[in-house]
Amino acid sequence: MEKLLHNYSESIRLSKLANEYIPGGAHTYSKGDDQFPANAPKLIDRGHGCKLWDVDGNQYIDMAMSLGTTVLGHAYEPVLDAVRYELVRGVNFCRPSVIEGKLAELLSSLIPSAEMVKLGKHGSDAVTGAIKLARAYTGRKYIARCADDAFNAIHDWFIGSTVVNRGVPEEVQRLTLQFKYNDIESCERLFDEYPGQIACFNLEPVSFTPPKDNFLEKLKTLCEKNGALLIFDEVVSGFRFSIGGAQEMVGVTPHLSAFGKAMANGFSVSALVGQKEFMKLGGISHDQERVFLLSTTHGGETHSIAASIACINEIIKQDAIAHFWKTGQALMDGIKSASIELGAEKYINISGYGVKPAFSFNDECGNISMLARTLFMQESIARGVLMPYVVPSFAHKKEDIDFVVEVVKDSLKVMKEAAEGKGMASAIVGEAVKPVFRKFN
Ligand SMILES: Cc1ncc(COP(=O)(O)O)c(C=O)c1O
Repeated sequence: MEKLLHNYSESIRLSKLANEYIPGGAHTYSKGDDQFPANAPKLIDRGHGCKLWDVDGNQYIDMAMSLGTTVLGHAYEPVLDAVRYELVRGVNFCRPSVIEGKLAELLSSLIPSAEMVKLGKHGSDAVTGAIKLARAYTGRKYIARCADDAFNAIHDWFIGSTVVNRGVPEEVQRLTLQFKYNDIESCERLFDEYPGQIACFNLEPVSFTPPKDNFLEKLKTLCEKNGALLIFDEVVSGFRFSIGGAQEMVGVTPHLSAFGKAMANGFSVSALVGQKEFMKLGGISHDQERVFLLSTTHGGETHSIAASIACINEIIKQDAIAHFWKTGQALMDGIKSASIELGAEKYINISGYGVKPAFSFNDECGNISMLARTLFMQESIARGVLMPYVVPSFAHKKEDIDFVVEVVKDSLKVMKEAAEGKGMASAIVGEAVKPVFRKFN
C-alpha cells in the first residue's frame, strides 16, 4: 500500500465529512468510492487543461474529463471569459435573456434534426423531455429503449428498467420495453407485440459499436410505419462524433434528440431538439391540448448558456472534433502496441472510436473482470493517471498521450506479473470496484 499511496491525509479527512452528509459521498454514482480503488484520490481540488490536483496537491493526468463534459479542458479561458461577462450582468431573470435565443439558433444551424430547441440543465432532462413529448404526440404509453445503452436518464422510465428499480412503481416499470442495438427483428417484435401502443424508440445512435446493415435507417422507417417517434440520445455523442452529432455522421435524422455533456465545457446545459411538428406542442401558441415541456427555474441561466455558445464556437474554431478523433486513436494504437510488446493483450480489450475509446480488463482466465479493472486503475493512479474511462479532449496533447501510454504499459506489466504469479486478487489493496447498477451494496 505504501508505494501505491500518494499523501492523502487531507483527502481522507475531508472525504469523511462528505460521506457523513452526502448519501454515497458524491452527487453522481460514477464518482463514488465504490467505483475507484483504495489508492484513488478521494477529493479533487482543481483542474487545468487535462490535469487535476487533489486536495493534498498530488497531480494526475485526467482521462475522464468531468464525465465527458470538459471537452476543451478544465478552466478553458475563452469559455471562462464568456462566463465572466455574463456573471457580472446578472445570471437569471423573470423573462428570457437574449442569449437563450442565440444558443437555440446556433444549435438549429448545426444539428440536422433541430428545427426547435428547448434548453435544460441535464442530459436526463432532455431525454426525458423527448420521451414525454413522444407520449403526448402519439397518445401512447409504452416506450422502447435500447438494452445496450448503459444509461439514458435518472428518471423512472429508465431507472425502473434497471436492476436498481427500488422506488419505481411496477406499473411504470412495465411501460418501458427493450430492444437490441443492430437487431431490427427485436424492434419489429415489439411493434408486433404492442401494436399501436409504442410512442417512441430511444437509443444512442452510436455508442461503442458501429451501426450495421442500415440499422438506424431501418429503425426510422419502422417507427414511421408504426406511428412512433425515433429519439436519439446524443448526450454523449453530440459535439463529439461530429459538430451536428452522431446523426450528422450516420446521416439519419431522428424526430427528436437530446444533447448535453460536451456542449458547454462542464457548465450545466442540455438541449432537447427536434422537428417543429412535435416541438411546437410544448409552446403557447397552438390550439391543441398543451404539453408541459421542460420548464425549469435555472434553464435560462445566462453564464451557462454563454459557456455553451463559447464552447461550441471554440470546438468549431479549433477543429476540436478532428483533435478528439486523432487523440483517441493515438491512445488506442499506443496501448495496443504496448500490450502486444508486453505479451499482455489477453488482459485488455480495446474497442470504440477515436472520439470514444473503450477499454475493459480481463482476469487470468480472459474474462472481463472488476478485479482486473481495479488492479489497472490502482496501478495507473499510482503512476499519476486517472482513467476510469477515456474521454479525449482538446487539452490532451501528444506528450500527455505518450505519458498515458507509458503508464498503461507499466500497469499492464504489473497485471501480467500478478496474473502469472500469485493472482490479480493478491495484488489489490482494498476492495474491488463494483458496477453502479447492482441491487445491493
Ligand atoms: C448516454 C447518456 N444519456 C443521458 C445521460 C444523462 O445525462 P445527465 O447526467 O446530464 O443527466 C448520460 C449520463 O451519463 C448518458 O451517458
